[in-house]
Amino acid sequence: MSFSIELELQQFPKTVALKENAKANLRPLRRDDEKELHQLFLDIPEPERLFIKHRVTEIETIRDWCRNLDYGRNLPLVGLLNGKLVGIATLHQQLGGWKRHIGRVSVLVHPASRGRGLARSLIGEIIDIARQSGLEKVEAEFIGEQEAAMKMFALLGFSQLLRLENYVKDMQANSHDYILMGLDLLTDEEYAGAGG
Ligand SMILES: CC(C)(COP(=O)(O)OP(=O)(O)OC[C@H]1O[C@@H](n2cnc3c(N)ncnc32)[C@H](O)[C@@H]1OP(=O)(O)O)[C@@H](O)C(=O)NCCC(=O)NCCS
Repeated sequence: MSFSIELELQQFPKTVALKENAKANLRPLRRDDEKELHQLFLDIPEPERLFIKHRVTEIETIRDWCRNLDYGRNLPLVGLLNGKLVGIATLHQQLGGWKRHIGRVSVLVHPASRGRGLARSLIGEIIDIARQSGLEKVEAEFIGEQEAAMKMFALLGFSQLLRLENYVKDMQANSHDYILMGLDLLTDEEYAGAGG
């Protein structure tokens, strides 16, 4: 794990205020979150779960994530409401190659805990961590039907970079549009510095 990520993680656990006087506790995913994280995925309605890229109803998948934590590569930040794990946002990094300066963000909130600002809060933290760790951009991938999520990312400053018609397939092999959204993390001054 890079020094900057390690430093960034020292601010957690962190309590943040949500709507309706709710408070959430945010922290990196831990080894002992296995059961709760699995339950979060089980509670996602089947039609929505089809859009998730991994076999998240299988406990082995979740166990593998919880037991092989490498925050420098995948940093999953979880959100707890009243002690229950109800949200997760992850910063995925490629440590080499063409996209080494771009982090990828994904997010999921329990249906019963939506609309309170938890996703906004989790993604806000992930963007800060990405910026502090020296990443220059973050991106997020969607399928055409994830309109609510795209709207939310647009509110957070992301813009659509491309849309490819019927390009990806869900877990039932149905085709969907693929959308890539992105956000620049460099300030105008940093851009000017990079150019000169
Ligand atoms: C998208 C998702 C993460 C939003 O979680 P959430 O905690 O309800 O989101 P928030 O309460 O933080 O909402 C933030 C903003 O997004 C917008 N938004 C969120 N859900 C919305 C919806 N269903 N319809 C329209 N706008 C929505 C709101 O305008 C809100 O802004 P506001 O606070 O000014 O009202 C959640 O619906 C989800 O888990 N969806 C399935 C997974 C997914 O699509 N992930 C994205 C792929 S990476």
